Amino acid sequence: MPKILSKERLAQNIVQIEVDAPMIARSAKAGQFVVLRINEEGERIPLTIADKDPESGKVTIIFQEAGASTCYLGSLEVGSEIKNILGPLGTPAHINKVGHVVVIGGGVGIAEIYPAIKAYKDAGNKVTTIIGARCKDLLLSEAKIKSITDELLITTDDGSCGRKGFVTEILKEMLEDSSIEINLVYAVGPVPMMEAVCHVTAPAKIKTIVSLNPIMLDATGMCGVCRVTVGGQTKFGCVDGPEFDGHLVDFKELKARLSAYKDKEKIASDHVCKLAHL
Ligand SMILES: Cc1cc2nc3c(=O)[nH]c(=O)nc-3n(C[C@H](O)[C@H](O)[C@H](O)COP(=O)(O)OP(=O)(O)OC[C@H]3O[C@@H](n4cnc5c(N)ncnc54)[C@H](O)[C@@H]3O)c2cc1C
Ligand code: FES
Repeated sequence: MPKILSKERLAQNIVQIEVDAPMIARSAKAGQFVVLRINEEGERIPLTIADKDPESGKVTIIFQEAGASTCYLGSLEVGSEIKNILGPLGTPAHINKVGHVVVIGGGVGIAEIYPAIKAYKDAGNKVTTIIGARCKDLLLSEAKIKSITDELLITTDDGSCGRKGFVTEILKEMLEDSSIEINLVYAVGPVPMMEAVCHVTAPAKIKTIVSLNPIMLDATGMCGVCRVTVGGQTKFGCVDGPEFDGHLVDFKELKARLSAYKDKEKIASDHVCKLAHL
């Protein structure tokens, strides 16, 4: 069974683990994810492949303790085995040389943008990265991102690091600056952030890719739970995505579907998170 090889708590509720998964480490591409099951009774948790090392066979996952399953995962220690890890899943990001790409990460989404930044750089693009979090302590992977991006711009809601405000304010200013040409925007983070980014880029007709996180079950295109409406058509987040043209996404429907099980999730979360932190 796959083993947890390392564990680091990056912030109060955000944990990074490295899992022994050589086949996934060898074949994963930017934009793809895995589905973990902690034990026989465990639900299936989709999590982005934040990094991979094909030589050592390690896959890095960074997750927020959002509820029952992720709290339980966060309570496991180095050496623990998990029931299984399935992947790489999803359609890899379509990476081309387009010129200047602005990559935006918000919240735990910051931890997920490293493979995309690297892939866009490797394809010969100039990459400006904007990351935003509630406060300084939640700015994940800052040094790692800085080491590969051409430019790193930071915002925090409380002003404890970088500019006080939201990532969209910096993006808006860049779009208003006639000396800056932007060819593509790529955004990962909370749904309202991705939606706001799309509102900013739509009038300028700048192609904007978002990585969606609909609720998933089998993650292989069989159950339909992850359906999203994109350009008026039903798409499955797990196989057609998770990346889509943000200007075509029905965000209202996505938000409604994501909150459909809130009551049940709260009951499970209160129970497991209490046990995990005893
Ligand atoms: C493709 C994809 C990649 C993701 N990558 C990451 C990542 O790298 N790091 C990270 O912290 N989170 C990521 N998520 C979200 C993560 O899967 C959920 O936070 C997790 O499943 C929550 O489960 P829970 O039992 O801990 O919490 P719950 O209390 O069950 O849920 C908390 C919230 O998480 C969402 N959620 C619940 N179950 C699922 C599910 N089966 N699939 C998707 N979302 C769900 C819902 O919005 C829910 O309100 C990703 C989701 C998707 C679809
Ligand atoms: S999760 Fe079942 S079809 Fe996508």
